Amino acid sequence: MVINFICWPSTKLAWILALLLNLVMMIQVHGQPPSSGFISIDCGLRNRSSYNDSSTGLRFNPDSGFVEGGMRKQISQEFMADAENEQQKTLRSFPDGSRNCYTLPSTMGKKYLWRATFTYGNYDGLNKTLDGSLFLFGLHLGVNFWDMVNLTNFNPMAAGWSEVLTVAPSNSMSVCLVNFGSGIPFISSLELRPLEDTMYPFVNTSVSINLIDRVRYGNITDLITRYPTDNYDRIWYNHTTDYPWMNLNTTNKVETLPGNNFFNIPSVIMQNALTLDMNYSGMIISSTPHPNVDTKSRQILPIFHFAEINGSNPNRRFDIYSAGELLFSDFSPSRFQVDSMHQNGRFLRNPNATFLLNNTGSSTLPPLINAYELYFLVRMDNLTTDSKDVNYMKEVKNHYNLTRVNWNGDPCSPREYSWEGLTCDYSESNQNPRIVSINLSASGLKGELAVSLMNMVSLEYMDLSHNNLTGAIPDYQLKSLKILNLSNNQLVGPIPDSILRRFQAGLLELRLEGNPICSKVKDTYCSNKKKNAIQTMVIVVTVPVVLVSLLVLMCIIWNLCWKGKSDHEDYAMYEQETSLHVDIRRFTYVELKLITNDFQSIIGKGGFGIVYHGKLENGDEVAVKVLMETSIEDSTDFLPEVQTLSKVHHKNLVTLKGYCQNKKCLALIYDFMSRGNLQQLIRGCLFINLYLLLMFISNIVDLLGCI
Ligand SMILES: *[C@@H]1O[C@H](CO)[C@@H](O)[C@H](O)[C@H]1NC(C)=O
Ligand SMILES: *[C@@H]1O[C@H](CO)[C@@H](O)[C@H](O)[C@H]1NC(C)=O
Ligand SMILES: *[C@@H]1O[C@H](CO)[C@@H](O)[C@H](O)[C@H]1NC(C)=O
Ligand SMILES: *[C@@H]1O[C@H](CO)[C@@H](O)[C@H](O)[C@H]1NC(C)=O
Ligand SMILES: *[C@@H]1O[C@H](CO)[C@@H](O)[C@H](O)[C@H]1NC(C)=O
Ligand SMILES: *[C@@H]1O[C@H](CO)[C@@H](O)[C@H](O)[C@H]1NC(C)=O
Ligand SMILES: *[C@@H]1O[C@H](CO)[C@@H](O)[C@H](O)[C@H]1NC(C)=O
Ligand SMILES: *[C@@H]1O[C@H](CO)[C@@H](O)[C@H](O)[C@H]1NC(C)=O
Ligand SMILES: *[C@@H]1O[C@H](CO)[C@@H](O)[C@H](O)[C@H]1NC(C)=O
Ligand SMILES: *[C@@H]1O[C@H](CO)[C@@H](O)[C@H](O)[C@H]1NC(C)=O
Ligand SMILES: *[C@@H]1O[C@H](CO)[C@@H](O)[C@H](O)[C@H]1NC(C)=O
Ligand SMILES: *[C@@H]1O[C@H](CO)[C@@H](O)[C@H](O)[C@H]1NC(C)=O
Repeated sequence: MVINFICWPSTKLAWILALLLNLVMMIQVHGQPPSSGFISIDCGLRNRSSYNDSSTGLRFNPDSGFVEGGMRKQISQEFMADAENEQQKTLRSFPDGSRNCYTLPSTMGKKYLWRATFTYGNYDGLNKTLDGSLFLFGLHLGVNFWDMVNLTNFNPMAAGWSEVLTVAPSNSMSVCLVNFGSGIPFISSLELRPLEDTMYPFVNTSVSINLIDRVRYGNITDLITRYPTDNYDRIWYNHTTDYPWMNLNTTNKVETLPGNNFFNIPSVIMQNALTLDMNYSGMIISSTPHPNVDTKSRQILPIFHFAEINGSNPNRRFDIYSAGELLFSDFSPSRFQVDSMHQNGRFLRNPNATFLLNNTGSSTLPPLINAYELYFLVRMDNLTTDSKDVNYMKEVKNHYNLTRVNWNGDPCSPREYSWEGLTCDYSESNQNPRIVSINLSASGLKGELAVSLMNMVSLEYMDLSHNNLTGAIPDYQLKSLKILNLSNNQLVGPIPDSILRRFQAGLLELRLEGNPICSKVKDTYCSNKKKNAIQTMVIVVTVPVVLVSLLVLMCIIWNLCWKGKSDHEDYAMYEQETSLHVDIRRFTYVELKLITNDFQSIIGKGGFGIVYHGKLENGDEVAVKVLMETSIEDSTDFLPEVQTLSKVHHKNLVTLKGYCQNKKCLALIYDFMSRGNLQQLIRGCLFINLYLLLMFISNIVDLLGCI
């Protein structure tokens, strides 16, 4: 027979209703490893600087220094007496900004447990949890969505809480409260607990897990067990029920096998267990959470902790099922030794979050369980902004004492919460976003220019105009900055060489008008017409264009005058007539065969085809570059190239003497090695471009020589 039990009352498993004093724990403080690395924050704490929590002995600190925005509040006086601990009494609420973050120090790559609690306590007198409207807000863990805090229809003095196990992506970690427009986010306490790196091995940089349920079984008189019994301050709820349930306990130590350091369950937790009367054969472990907690759409991960603590040598074997799926078959707990059963980070779909432990036929005893944890998957796919960029932004923020309400958390990520005035580059989906532009125009900046900004490798655009910046412009080595607008400040000269050089080279658009620096300087960057870059562009672009056009024109005229008209061969015989009007000879395929002596002597090979040696009727030696047949079909570039090359005659370059173009052949005929070099012929397309470039340069050299 299978019997059901529902965890009593299931809500308590995920939501603290009350926290009891635990004197036993207080007594155990001595001899426990130190709680080093614990950070415990009582949000909104005002009346005292810090205190030791009466139940855990842990030291709680105020939240100043960990958070920027928000307002300190305390629960309404009518509920003060109901508070189970100090942390419930005060809170910080965030009426401004869509995202507000707490940032705590961490060690990159280390595993942590984060716990955030929320006790409304009608602090604003609006009775928000019970007024019938939706009251919920979001939690982000860094740049990733962590959990939804849903306090709709919630007892105002109950503590909602979220707990996540995660790996720190850097040397600081943030928890952010996100306003969804359904109530003002607030937080009562925030706790950070380092874990061993070996623990919860399936938690990594891209997978975090959020707690749904953590239970210890047996006859336990304390509602919760946590630090110092649990070195990592995990919170375990008690679970005991009446017949047919049976509690087991032992004073024998329950061992953990060497190397099994995945969960480090306190021995005292494993020394108690729950089983059934002998007449029953299966138990259902159910974690139906609070209606405000959604498990239906979640991927869940259970971890079962077992140890046989029955003194005799019993025959106890059972199967473990999740929603009809057999997870572990014919399992038998080891005597006085911890077996933690989990599927190595495999997440399950199990909307009811119930698990069946069912006797196998040969078992003489019903199943037993000592402790149980249930988590849901929190994906950590979103990347943080490049850490160097983040550090620069932090420096800038400090330097100018910027208190922009949304300059909070990660600068670029997630996208919809990126900092106002920044433009980020997300184009590389597997790389951290980079900052490419900063607009701090008219932001009330005072003082000297912050040097660090300019060191940002990816920064292309910076606007610091209309502020009260003073002093000189420091001499930076600009990296990729293309536009620097410092206009309408109080900057004085001189302008550093490094910046001036980039400006003069046309690599930087610089604007300085409206600064004292411009009273002495009368350069374009000091007039407020935005023409510097354009002027440079005009010069850089038009001069070569005009020069090239002139040269081409000259060539054409020269050719026309001195070479006269090309001979009028009858092209009718060719399959493909063209509109090519050039003054070089057009060869037929038969002629090419003739002059190359049936393509006998190869002098070069390249990607485009083969170059043959040939001899014209007049005895002139030529190189015949035959393009590959495959490229004939799509040789749309061929004609223009012939046209261009045919006009180019220069002493340092090979001269094009003729060409062949029809369906059968596509070839260029050059002066053989008379001038220029064979490699140029062999290089194909690249060659044509190089050719034009060389032509341009050498013509300029020639021109200069004339002058
Ligand atoms: C802080 O002190 C004020 C006045 O001294 C008192 O009214 C308030 O209740 C105290 N708050 C807490 C959380 O103890
Ligand atoms: C508070 O706890 C710390 C250790 O966490 C201890 O050093 C200190 O003495 C305690 N203070 C009080 C007043 O109990
Ligand atoms: C809050 O609202 C609930 C439901 O409307 C009501 O029963 C309760 O008395 C209200 N409490 C306060 C303090 O206004
Ligand atoms: C990542 O960021 C996008 C928006 O930029 C957001 O929609 C998405 O939910 C985030 N993913 C996670 C896992 O938080
Ligand atoms: C639980 O333990 C107490 C002693 O600590 C004992 O008196 C009580 O009978 C036990 N209850 C059950 C159900 O085992
Ligand atoms: C578990 O904790 C609750 C709340 O404190 C308590 O009422 C109950 O007796 C505890 N269970 C046992 C078996 O003592
Ligand atoms: C431990 O188990 C024994 C029976 O084996 C029982 O008499 C005793 O009450 C139990 N103690 C607790 C604290 O449950
Ligand atoms: C929040 O909780 C209320 C009350 O249980 C429920 O009706 C609502 O669907 C929940 N909303 C979300 C988004 O979980
Ligand atoms: C979940 O629970 C409901 C009601 O208790 C039941 O009808 C349904 O079959 C259960 N689903 C699974 C997968 O166990
Ligand atoms: C559980 O065990 C009983 C008896 O051994 C058996 O009849 C039943 O089919 C089992 N249930 C499942 C889901 O295997
Ligand atoms: C920074 O700004 C805060 C509030 O805007 C102000 O109180 C503080 O004096 C400023 N600090 C500096 C160094 O300007
Ligand atoms: C610069 O500071 C002066 C006073 O020091 C103030 O009057 C002026 O408005 C400020 N200018 C800007 C652009 O913030």
